[in-house]
Amino acid sequence: MNLTSNVERLIEGFENKDKKALARAMTLVEEGNSELVERIRTLRKSVEEPWIIGITGPPGVGKSTLIDKLIGLLLMENRQIAVFAVDPSSKISGGAILGDRVRMQRYAVDENVFIRSVATRGAGGGVSHHLIDMIDMVLAFGYDTVIVETVGAGQIDLDIFDISDTTVLVLMPEQGDGIQTYKAGMTEMADIFVINKADKQGADKIAEQLKVMRSITKARDEWQPPILKVISTENIGIDMLLRELQRHRRYLLSSKKIEVKKRTRRLMRVREGILSRFEKALSKALENLADREIDDFDEVYIEIVKDILAEGGGNEKQMLIKGISHIGIAVEKIADKIGFYRDILGLKVSEAELVEAYKVKVAFVEIGKTRLELLEPTSEESSIAEFLKNKGEGIHHIAFDVLDIEKAFSSMKKAGIRVLRDSISKGAHGSRVFFIHPKDTGGILMEFVEEVHDG
Ligand code: CO
Repeated sequence: MNLTSNVERLIEGFENKDKKALARAMTLVEEGNSELVERIRTLRKSVEEPWIIGITGPPGVGKSTLIDKLIGLLLMENRQIAVFAVDPSSKISGGAILGDRVRMQRYAVDENVFIRSVATRGAGGGVSHHLIDMIDMVLAFGYDTVIVETVGAGQIDLDIFDISDTTVLVLMPEQGDGIQTYKAGMTEMADIFVINKADKQGADKIAEQLKVMRSITKARDEWQPPILKVISTENIGIDMLLRELQRHRRYLLSSKKIEVKKRTRRLMRVREGILSRFEKALSKALENLADREIDDFDEVYIEIVKDILAEGGGNEKQMLIKGISHIGIAVEKIADKIGFYRDILGLKVSEAELVEAYKVKVAFVEIGKTRLELLEPTSEESSIAEFLKNKGEGIHHIAFDVLDIEKAFSSMKKAGIRVLRDSISKGAHGSRVFFIHPKDTGGILMEFVEEVHDG
């Protein structure tokens, strides 16, 4: 009910640097609170040049320890750091931190560090729909550096290259048969290689393999990914990693490649936002239709679109007008006009149909996607009869095609616009219609129509 004030209260918490408000906001976003997401979007711009670092690599290579040490160095540079640990093990609730992440926990109480686990989307992998929104959120909160950790498997790690400015691939010696077994795309896309646990046997071998790979796939690139040997448990090589991260960042800024990164994130934000709404609306629609045989997918599609637009919260005013349904023309006798439209203009004219509620006969003249509606009164009490008496034949009303007539109707009422008859009635072809008063539209009688969708 009180969602708006709820959201505003959270935003207030942001301004007071209340980490609990941030954690609560994260949960709401994971639950798909679109209002909050939209509000965050307007705040996102507060950090001019955020630094987003991706750290990926197979399980067991020591990413968490590495990140833990990196946080230490970044804090010395007065950075405000948010860490997202993306976890493919499906069910994490409320951002609980898994065992492996405990290492980073010593920073959890540091006000300049925020740590959060993020579940991935279903079995197919892929970063959570909401990760990009969550990143926006920590930026709006005031963090300027974001580290996203993923476990090297599946789609997630391809997404991380799109999300991050700089991606670090962490490997370790004795990685089975070496890097060949590792996803080819990943080694090719990494900006920095870290060989962690470099005191173990085989560190040189894997470094050689990376060099060979780099000389093949990166030969022409301006940026040659450095290959760093690190022992993060002993804090060896972390400073080197930080220097390389900074060097890559400078490279992105000076080469303007940062703009490409921003563009990719922008598109990802749109894509994920739409996918997330769509998936939610789809499951709802399927649930509603579960007991029926569905041959007409359009019907499902329309359900989904309605739902998505209704969810949009703020776009009450986009009441789903799809276009002009028709233009109503008052005539004395439809039969007298058919010849003109059909024979001279060469248009298709439908059979006349009686619309009881309005005491008229109507015939439609098809013109592309829209129509003219010829209206002939069947009784002296018809408003068309009155119109003819006062003004003579001519344009009587304009009708908009709406997706959701109930919503259109309630928006009008809410806006205090006068609705004729004060209810939705039956129009031609089983459609549902209502009219609003010309005095509230600048002299035009307006009709709103929701067509029936008979597949
Ligand atoms: Co009409």
